[in-house]
Amino acid sequence: MRGKAFVFCARIRYNIAMSTYKIITYGCQMNVHESEKVAGLLEARGITECTEGVPDVVVFNTCCIRDNAERKAIGQIGRFKQLKKDNPGAVIAVVGCMTQQDGAGLALRKKFPFIDIVLGTSNIEKIGDLVADALTTHSKHVEIDDDPRPAIVEDVPYYRTSGTNAWINIMYGCNNFCTYCVVPYVRGRERSRRREDILAEFEKALSDGYKEVTLLGQNVNSYGNDRADGYGFAALLEDLAKYSGDHRIRFMTSHPKDMDERVIDIVAQSPNICNNIHLPLQSGSDKILKLMNRRYTRDDYLSIIDKIRAKMPDCGITTDLMVGFPYEEEEDFEDTLDMVRRVGWSNAFTFVYSPRRGTPAASMPQVPAEVSKRRIMKLIAEQNAVTRRLSDGYVGGVFKVLCEDVVEKDGKRLLCGRTDSGRMVTFDGPEGLVGEFCDIKVTRSQSASLFGTRV
Ligand code: SAH
Ligand code: SF4
Ligand code: F3S
Repeated sequence: MRGKAFVFCARIRYNIAMSTYKIITYGCQMNVHESEKVAGLLEARGITECTEGVPDVVVFNTCCIRDNAERKAIGQIGRFKQLKKDNPGAVIAVVGCMTQQDGAGLALRKKFPFIDIVLGTSNIEKIGDLVADALTTHSKHVEIDDDPRPAIVEDVPYYRTSGTNAWINIMYGCNNFCTYCVVPYVRGRERSRRREDILAEFEKALSDGYKEVTLLGQNVNSYGNDRADGYGFAALLEDLAKYSGDHRIRFMTSHPKDMDERVIDIVAQSPNICNNIHLPLQSGSDKILKLMNRRYTRDDYLSIIDKIRAKMPDCGITTDLMVGFPYEEEEDFEDTLDMVRRVGWSNAFTFVYSPRRGTPAASMPQVPAEVSKRRIMKLIAEQNAVTRRLSDGYVGGVFKVLCEDVVEKDGKRLLCGRTDSGRMVTFDGPEGLVGEFCDIKVTRSQSASLFGTRV
């Protein structure tokens, strides 16, 4: 659905201030953060989070990065048909990346006529007004703009839900058009936020007591390229590193083609910026990287790793890897396995390539599903062996950990938190430590899990 459409029909009135909401989120950290925006906009209307019983407002914040992400959301939305039967005044809204695909808005409304609101990725700021309207008048709304450069809306009342961590978007959209990826189509072109808006949000997060801030962008290294003032990611990191205090900064995602040495230097020199870099490789084969339009080679990637390790030997480096991309042959896959052994990522997010309609790779010859399945199993096993080996290297060391949460393990309530390098550690302690930094001695490792005690 392109352009805008409104359909109004008045029925019974609903008490907005007594209403409750539930948000179901799929996809990446950006979507998790976007849901905090949705929550903030609903809370600003007096609608509160549903903690028990049946919600009056259900918002699905969707993802379409792979077919299984879409199928999960569609399956779940279908289940909410019953909610409308039990509570005919309830409002069901679908937002996020899935709605922005060509024709998806109308297709969703056709498949699930009980949906009240469908909003595109750049229309999300309207959610508060439209939900209030739908609750009181039962009106239906579909609003999906196709402007690839929608203006950035500031001063959104985020309702943060991510515990000790505050997400801060530094930019929106993506210009890279990797041939498999739907993001540039559903999130538009790169738009960087102004320096002063980011710094103000950062200061507010610190004064609100957040001990960790994660800067978000599809390709944070190209932050500022769309702005005329020449202020880029390295300069932003430098500015943020100047804030003293007991807090730390992470950022994601870095693109190997844009990762520059200045960023590596600033991360290495700044005690408040974590030595933790997410640097997706995708494939270890130059042939596949070219077909993917990634614009770097495996040697380029390895030279970035060398530079990071030269300045930060303990840096936790993570990646994304894909198998079964069109034209991937056994030797290409072997090149990816070779990179697993050479680089030593502390963790890798592994995916089977999923054709996305409208992207160039979707019309390339596809690799049979059973081949991809075999490859992903092999890839996971190889990476697990590396992660296990690296986990063992933590045993005996003492690490500064930000205590993030309480977890149940074998009937015991334990605490968990991450090291500067991004590794999760579980340890014993009072729940009051959540939100505090603790020194933890790692005593034991089990695959990707680390266990320790307070020192
Ligand atoms: N902007 C980030 C990642 C965004 S999507 C980057 O450039 O690295 C997160 C990950 O999903 C990607 O790194 C990629 O590994 C995976 N992905 C994206 N599109 C995919 C597709 N069509 N099929 C399978 N995995 C995909
Ligand atoms: Fe997708 Fe590539 Fe942009 Fe990442 S850089 S969001 S993989 S197009
Ligand atoms: Fe999914 Fe959109 Fe993120 S497609 S991965 S939710 S940017």
